[in-house]
Amino acid sequence: MAVTAPARAQSPAAAIAGLLGLGAATAVALGVYAKVHSPAGRPLFTLGFSGMLQMKVWLTTAALALLAVQLVTALWMWGRLPAAGPAPGWVSWVHRWSGSVAFALTLPAAFHCMWALGFGTDSTRVLVHGIAGCAFYGAYAAKMLGLRLPGLPARAIPFLGAAVLSTFVVIWLTAALWFFTRSGLPLT
Ligand code: HEM
Repeated sequence: MAVTAPARAQSPAAAIAGLLGLGAATAVALGVYAKVHSPAGRPLFTLGFSGMLQMKVWLTTAALALLAVQLVTALWMWGRLPAAGPAPGWVSWVHRWSGSVAFALTLPAAFHCMWALGFGTDSTRVLVHGIAGCAFYGAYAAKMLGLRLPGLPARAIPFLGAAVLSTFVVIWLTAALWFFTRSGLPLT
């Protein structure tokens, strides 16, 4: 008769350490790549926009709108919208798909930031933007792993979701808002 080992319970500390390690490694790896490679200084594609700047700004703004959907659906699923009652089944579907599409929209923007421009340190705004960009993908990787790891404290997922959202708001403020406050640049 085959004897199987009982499944070992995951300790919360080990799970949290794993998440933090993955998030930090992801963020540092992106930052190192952006810093050490020679920026190409040109776009690979512009998806029909007049330039790389416009493409990135609108992709980032569309992703921010979807992250607002993420916030509302997350609050609803976690019972933080008492006036709306319990969340119907489709809310988790909307949460999952708005998040997936938002993530996909960030990829062409972030790719062009890192590949075409690199890790900028010319001003506080650009430095904060690069750090937030790397931290966003670290937080996102940790959240995706956290959804699948057993033994995490109940607060871990909302905490990681808040980290994803807040780093993205910083990205938008330091890049897209800055663009919208410039004058003389083509909007699209
Ligand atoms: C989710 C991730 C990211 C998004 C959505 C994003 C989005 C944007 C947008 C919309 C702009 C303004 C358009 C432009 O100047 O071309 C921008 C600029 C820039 N990004 Fe990112 N970015 C992300 C991550 C990063 C990362 C990881 C780095 C580097 C480590 C980075 C470095 C830069 C630089 C150097 C600029 C030019 C800033 C300036 O000179 O004004 N970005 N980004």
